[in-house]
Formats: sequence, structure tokens, C-alpha cells
Amino acid sequence: MDDLVAWAGTVARRYLATPEFAERRWQHVQAVAAKAVRLRSGLNGYADLVCAAAWLHDIGYAPQLRDTGFHPIDGARELRRLGADETLCGLVAHHSGARHEARLRGLATELDEFRDEPGPGRDALWYCDMTTGPAGATVSFAERLVEIRHRYGIDHTVPQAIAAASPEIQAAITAVEHCAAEAGVCL
Ligand SMILES: [Fe+2]
Repeated sequence: MDDLVAWAGTVARRYLATPEFAERRWQHVQAVAAKAVRLRSGLNGYADLVCAAAWLHDIGYAPQLRDTGFHPIDGARELRRLGADETLCGLVAHHSGARHEARLRGLATELDEFRDEPGPGRDALWYCDMTTGPAGATVSFAERLVEIRHRYGIDHTVPQAIAAASPEIQAAITAVEHCAAEAGVCL
């Protein structure tokens, strides 16, 4: 395993392999990371960054990293403090349509501290996150949306933001599925 991915796994474990997250969040993150590994062969030069981001995308939920209260920003800021590559910080900051929720929370300026780089790497991370349920099961994006609405309540910022981001997330998922089919990767 590449050094970057091993490092990412270690950082993720430090923040999320805790009793608070043992039953759900940590299971989700491990499954997202495993899914990214399965996509590796179709990711060319992006593979290590995507696998690292898969491990790290939710570290901002850790109580000790809570600052803005929006986990993509809090996680990306921690990665920057740790000296992580700016592309990796940007992948974490902007994962799964974070821009929409940042806008609803009045945190668009803070999110803009990080670069958003559309492309196959970003698509792959979004695919892995948005087709993995909160306890690690593989789900369709439609099922993920239903679960998020149920968990937070329909009027909450999170489901509203995901709904706004849905076309972009669906496009990422479709792109990954298309590339995987062409590369003969079994999702
Ligand atoms: Fe996630």
C-alpha cells in the first residue's frame, strides 16, 4: 500500500476509531476506503489521492476538530495543518457536493479556502461516499437520499443540501460506473 494511503488510514483511525463512532461512522469510512481500493485500477494517477481522501473525508466529525461545525471544512483544515497535499485537502473539503451545504450554512467563503478540482478523482470519491450507507452497507444513491432524509428530517440543512447537489452527485456516479464498465472493474 502506498505511503500516502497508509498515512491516511492512520489519521482516520486516530480520529474516528473511537467508541463514539464505532458502530456507524467508522464502519462507513472503512467501507468507503475499501470501495476506493476496488476502483484503483480505473483511476490511473488519481488512485492514491482518492484512496487517501476516502479514509479522510469524514475526520471533520471528530469532536476535537470541530470548529465551523461543518465537517468537510473542519477536516480539510486539519489536513492542511498536518501538511497534506492541497489536492487532498480540496477533495475532502468539497466532497459529495459540500458546496451546497456550505452555502446554506453561510460557510461558502470558508469552503473557498480550498480548491475544488472537478474530474475523475473527485467523481470517484463522491461515488464511494454516496453509495455507502452510514454503517458501511453498499446502497444506491436513491437509498442514500432516503436514509439521509429519514435520519435528519426533511427540513434539515443536510437533506436540503444533498437534494440540491443531487444532479452533480448523480453525474459523478454515472461517470464512475461508465469508466468502471469500460475498464472491466466490478463495482
Ligand atoms: Fe462519508
